[in-house]
This record gives sequence, C-alpha cells and structure tokens, in this order.
Amino acid sequence: MAQLNFKRHRRLRTSAAMRSMVRETYLHKEDLIYPIFVIEGQNIKNPVQSMPGVYQFSLDRLGEEIDEVVELGIPAVILFGLPAEKDAIGTGAFHDHGIVQKATRFVKERHPELIVIADTCLCEFTDHGHCGVVEGDKILNDPSLEILGRTAVSQAQAGADIIAPSNMMDGFVAAIRAALDEAGFEDVPIMSYAVKYASAYYGPFRDAADGAPQFGDRKTYQMDPANRIEAFREAESDIVEGADFLIVKPALSYLDIVRDVRNNFTLPIVAYNVSGEYAMVKAAAQNGWIEEKAIVMETLLGMKRAGADMIITYHSKDVARWLEEK
Ligand code: PBG
Ligand code: ZN
Repeated sequence: MAQLNFKRHRRLRTSAAMRSMVRETYLHKEDLIYPIFVIEGQNIKNPVQSMPGVYQFSLDRLGEEIDEVVELGIPAVILFGLPAEKDAIGTGAFHDHGIVQKATRFVKERHPELIVIADTCLCEFTDHGHCGVVEGDKILNDPSLEILGRTAVSQAQAGADIIAPSNMMDGFVAAIRAALDEAGFEDVPIMSYAVKYASAYYGPFRDAADGAPQFGDRKTYQMDPANRIEAFREAESDIVEGADFLIVKPALSYLDIVRDVRNNFTLPIVAYNVSGEYAMVKAAAQNGWIEEKAIVMETLLGMKRAGADMIITYHSKDVARWLEEK
C-alpha cells in the first residue's frame, strides 16, 4: 500500500479512560437551576400535562419538592407563581403576601443555603397575560418599569437571592437596579433575561404558569428568532444598565447565540432549556423513540460546550441523579 499521510484521531478514543483524559466539557450539578411553579391554595400538587414530572405546588406541599432538590445537591431554584387573582397591573406580582414572596420566605427559612431566584415578570399576574401594562392593544414600556421595580424590591424583601427579570421591556434592568439600590439591596444581583426570543418553545410553560397572553402575541417586546446581531445590542444594554448574569433563551435552537454572547461579553452566561425543549424530549422518551438519559445529557452538554456557565432546566433533578450514578 502506498504511504498515506493522515492523522490518527482515534488514538485518543481507544478506551473510556483515554476519552475521559481528553474530555473538554463537563456538566456538573453546580451548573443546574431548577424551575418550580408555586400556586395559591391547599394540598395541591398538580401535574402539568405537557411537562411530565413537573407540578404546580401549593405552599404546604412545597417542602417535599425543595427537600429533594437540596438532597440532590442542586444549588438553585427559580420560582414562578400562580396567584389566586389577577388584575390589569399584576398586583399579585409585587404584593408582600404574593405567592412568590410567600414561597421565597418559606424556602429560605427551610433551606437558607439554597439560592432562590425570583422570576420578575407580570404575565402570570395580569388578567390580559402580557408582561407589561397594556393600553388597548399596546404593551406600554415605561409605565411597566415602575411596577417591575416594585416587584423586584418585594422579592428581595422576601429574601430572594437573585432577581431575574424576564419581561423584555426596555430599561428593565436599569429600573430594577435603581429600585433595589434605593431600597438597600445593592448586593442583590440581577440575572437578566437579556436575550429572549419570541418563541413557540414557551408553549408548555404557559400552561404551567397560566401566563398565556389573552390577545395578540409577545412579538413587540421579545426578539425575532431570525436575528443574531440584535442579541449583541440586548446584551450590551443590559450590561450597561447593571446586569450581573445574562440569560439566553430558548437554548436548543439558539446555541449559536449562546456562543456569540460567551465570546463577546464577560458576564456569567445562563442558557434556559425551556419548556418546549423539555416536552419534546419527554414525549419522544415516553414513546420509547429516544433514550432519555443519553439525549438529555448530550443536549445539556451541548449547551455547556456552546458557552453556558449555568443551565435553567426542568431536567435538573434527573440530571443530578444521573451524575451521581457514574
Ligand atoms: C415569563 C416567562 C416565560 C418563560 C419564562 N418566563 C414565558 C414567556 O415569556 O412567554 C418561558 C419558560 C419556558 O418556556 O420554560 N415572561
Ligand atoms: Zn412575562
């Protein structure tokens, strides 16, 4: 045979030990943030139909879930609330006895070491289901900012460790930073949903959090999935306004954006593995069409490889267990 000149890449794949030596990316428990839905009422553990394994918990049932999260070594949860009543301005979002505020107090009392991230938005609390105040069919920007600031402060007062505004109003980081500082919470960081696309992948979440818009859509405030350069503008302005973390959302169809944001900014990057991504995997796994564990681990590893430091994922409890297995 003639002398061939080529590289033998397979040399570094000959055994599990060899592959492990040259592995570039890891998924750790410490990377995980687990979303939890809390609902007003008693003795409720409602399964979310489109998200097998995910439930809405009333406060008296929240303990069991939180204990499990802590036992599994997951360092953080992000809380979403379903109030008893909704109104035009989303009063339940900033009420001292709002569902998220009560849940935050409960969790911090039970497990002070568990990081509580409060999602700061209005859509679960407004009767129209939009993330800001509305006038006719318009979602108003500036009048929403004051309410978001109040919401963040009330969440911090309840003991939230991190404020995570997801509403996509312009200036929301500036408004929340100013409100937190003024209230003496200059040490509470903001995890901004800086790069958030108007995505069909949020469908199952809107069932879970009962936050679907009652008219129109979110395209006048969330980003166009076709746009990449716009992500730089969004990240840049949030950093200038005082963000401490940047979320890219959704994750799976936007891994190029995760990489872009990682390469061009220095803040910690969070990828949000959203509800629709979870639902697709669960549905296929339940049909026996894919191997759930392998698919989930590969997907989340892909997010880490794309540059994410942390991942918000509904798979967190399973992943924490799977990481223990080896
Ligand atoms: C609320 C909010 C949404 C998600 C997180 N916070 C829904 C939306 O913007 O419509 C989506 C999370 C998911 O799909 O898992 N603003
Ligand atoms: Zn919202």
